[in-house]
Amino acid sequence: MAMTMSCGDTTVHPEVDRILSLFQVSKEQLHLVMHRLREEMERGLSRNTYQEASVRMLPTFIRSLPAGKVNGSFLALDLGGTNFRVLLVRFGSACEDAEHMVSESYRIPHKLMQASGQQLFDYIVDCIIKFLSNRNIKEPPPLGFTFSFPYQQTGLDQGILLNWTKGFDIPDCVGKDVVQLLREAIQRRQCALQEFDLDVAVIINDTVGTLMSCAYEDPKCEIGLIVGTGTNMCYMEQMRNIDKLDGDDGFMCINADWGAFGDSARRPLQDIKNEFDELADKRSQHPGQQTFEKMISGLLLGTIVQHILLKLKEKGVIFSGIKQHRLDHHGLFETKYLSVIESDTDDLLNVKSILEKFDLSSGIEDRRLVQKVCEAVTQRAARLCAAGLATVLEKMREAQQQDHMMTVGVEGSLYRLHPHFSRILEDTVKDLAPQCQVSFRHSKDGSGRGAAVVAAMNRC
Ligand code: BGC
Repeated sequence: MAMTMSCGDTTVHPEVDRILSLFQVSKEQLHLVMHRLREEMERGLSRNTYQEASVRMLPTFIRSLPAGKVNGSFLALDLGGTNFRVLLVRFGSACEDAEHMVSESYRIPHKLMQASGQQLFDYIVDCIIKFLSNRNIKEPPPLGFTFSFPYQQTGLDQGILLNWTKGFDIPDCVGKDVVQLLREAIQRRQCALQEFDLDVAVIINDTVGTLMSCAYEDPKCEIGLIVGTGTNMCYMEQMRNIDKLDGDDGFMCINADWGAFGDSARRPLQDIKNEFDELADKRSQHPGQQTFEKMISGLLLGTIVQHILLKLKEKGVIFSGIKQHRLDHHGLFETKYLSVIESDTDDLLNVKSILEKFDLSSGIEDRRLVQKVCEAVTQRAARLCAAGLATVLEKMREAQQQDHMMTVGVEGSLYRLHPHFSRILEDTVKDLAPQCQVSFRHSKDGSGRGAAVVAAMNRC
């Protein structure tokens, strides 16, 4: 058994030091990440190199932010994780100003995430039918579809799926237009819809929804960020910088799909990635893919912590004497535990009860160490995410050649629910991009509501 430096204090064991230091990323390293991400973004925008870029910089065909009020009623669908949402949003007219929104969430059964496209889209349409009939809606309004996976657009109502992420794996949809798949499912259910015309007006990514929803309230909002199960960012880019598209005038919203940063043969995150990232990735749904996302988002942070605790146990640093436990059941350590663990104080009794789920009885030193491990993993995640955001802020500042206030619209469970993630992210952005004046706006329901905003803009 390895020697501890001071009896009872597991946090000064050399193996603990070694592991925690693997998760410390210095400011210099973050600047390197920024530099490499910037290169990859430029590659994604260039006509000659976009096909080999890991950061795909996907054009959205949205050319402006919502200017002023929109009105009318719109349906919005939000598909991007374990829950599927249907929303009905009514934007007020000039005389009737208040906005009204009702929504319902439907759980996507795990087996549907790996079933066939037909099964998934039939289920989605069944949920829409349920939503409409519960409200006795006979003439559904135009529909905006938030689809939070990488897809290529050539117009506002078409999206060719490039690959699945976040636990979804339905090969027969890849390479197909998901709007068309939705329309076909609507056709198949036409008798249940009783000839209702369900018109899919636009497809957007959740970052775009977040941006549009926030920009509707704050015209300085030009960036949308998601940090939940997955992570991604979109921003308004000048057409003259989007070499792969014709035309130089005005702007277009670009969906960076930055989760795949690090996947290219150049391996730009190899010096940050460590043995625990490798272990977590190896047994994930799409090994070798979404490198940046797996280091930042809720998808794998819990699993990374789980692998560290297993290593510390193997080295005899933690949970000594326990033989039977469930810590080695892959994927059981959910990222939401990090929020509870890092919020706990004093005797760390919440940490204790989480560990009991794994049949681990713990002393206070064990619990302190678990908390420290979670803090290190969260800290690296938030700092890497900040490096990503600072990269785009700097790029936009350079293009504008003047300092101006920018707002980042943010949504996602990690940003919203974790006790420290948002603060570390925001402080690090200010440290890495000191010349950018940035403020953050949390968007509630933005990813879905944004689809209604874009559908409304498109109708005007
Ligand atoms: C997807 C993005 C999405 C992000 C956040 C990623 O896995 O590739 O398109 O925006 O998750 O939901």
